[in-house]
Formats: sequence, C-alpha cells, structure tokens
Amino acid sequence: MTTRPMLIAPSILSADMAALGDAVAELESAGADWVHVDVMDGHFVPNITIGMPVVAALAKRTRLPLDVHLMISDPDRYLDEFAAAGAKVLTVQAEACLHLYRTLERIRALGLRSGVAINPATPIESIEPVLACCDLVLIMTVEPGFGGQKFISSMLDKVRWLKRLVDERQLSVDIQVDGGIKEDSIGLAAQAGANVFVSGSGVFGQGDVAAALRRLRAALTVD
Ligand code: DX5
Ligand code: ZN
Repeated sequence: MTTRPMLIAPSILSADMAALGDAVAELESAGADWVHVDVMDGHFVPNITIGMPVVAALAKRTRLPLDVHLMISDPDRYLDEFAAAGAKVLTVQAEACLHLYRTLERIRALGLRSGVAINPATPIESIEPVLACCDLVLIMTVEPGFGGQKFISSMLDKVRWLKRLVDERQLSVDIQVDGGIKEDSIGLAAQAGANVFVSGSGVFGQGDVAAALRRLRAALTVD
C-alpha cells in the first residue's frame, strides 16, 4: 500500500478567462499544488477552450506545475507543442488514442509526467495493460466538456478498483479525479484512493479563492 501526497489542482476553466494570469498568481499565493488546464477542441468534446499559446503564457506567470488535460481528438499531433509550452503533466483521453502505449511513452520521452484519462463509461480494464507507462490516471467523475456538472458517485468504485491495482503492482501512479469535486465529494474520493483533486467551480466563482481552497483541504482530511 503506497501513500502519495494529497494534491489540489484547481481548474482555471471556471476562472475569468480575461484574467488567467491573475488567476494563476492567486492560486499560487493561496497554496494550490498544481494548475489544471482544460484543453477542448470542439470535436472530442462539444466545447472549445484554450490551446498552446495560453499554456505558454501561463508558464511564464507561475512556478506551479501546469497539469494539462487534453480533451482533444488525435492528441499525438500536439504533444511536442504542449511540452514546449511548459506543461509538466500531460494527460490524454484514452478514448482519443489509437495507440495509447506509444502516446504515453512519447509524453515521458518529452520529459513530462504521462497521464491518461478515462470517461465515465470507459472501464479500468481498457488502460490496465498500459498502467506501467502512466504517472497519473484520471478517473473522470463527470462527462468531459463543461465545468459545474454534478459528481457521478458511482465512479468511486473505479477509483477503488484502480487503487487496488496500483498497490498490488507497487506502481507510482497518481490517481486523479475531475468533475464535480466540491466539499461534499472530495473526502469520498480521497477515501476511495484518489490523491489528486481537480476542482473548477469549487474554487472559482465562490468569492475568495484562498478560503475555497482551505475549505476543500479541510474536507479532504480522511479519518
Ligand atoms: C470537465 C473538465 C474539468 C472541469 C471541472 O470537462 O475536465 O476539469 O473544469 O469543473 P468542475 O470542478 O466545476 O466540475
Ligand atoms: Zn479537466
């Protein structure tokens, strides 16, 4: 059984898009661990957000690791550019990759931490053969595409299952959850075995970002 640090990765998807530099600076002073950047292409998911130039601009404004979540079709086309832009963790959606092993190995060869995300309907079995190439597995707890959706609590079973697998194989893999993570769900996800928590609407749009982060950390405490 491995214990990994509990990390909070606020998603800037819910921040003021006209002031993202200020948002990351605020996250840094509020004690966030990572900055989660949601990249959407209007093809893999219905929404369109931001791309490499914004990641490069954010990298100049913060020392926090940029945790880039690619919700895009054919991510292989863009791995090198996101690496050059300053991503530290690069996560692809398993459903978007025809050759997932190669994609994960490429991310590592670029010197980044490799992540794979799976949608609610995608079973753990689909990534089990490539777990050894993953530094992070992201269990989506909503359908990807939009912030502010309701946490799907049945995904906790997938988190438990993955945690067991990772422990059995003694792998060094972060287990991340993303979607609907708020004060009422973060502790449940931690108990199930997750250790990296993405929260967008739970951090931004609540008034005081630092206070929202403190509340999430308090709710994270596993008894
Ligand atoms: C959803 C994104 C999430 C999103 C989470 O497609 O991957 O990172 O920003 O937002 P909340 O925390 O509001 O569900
Ligand atoms: Zn995300």
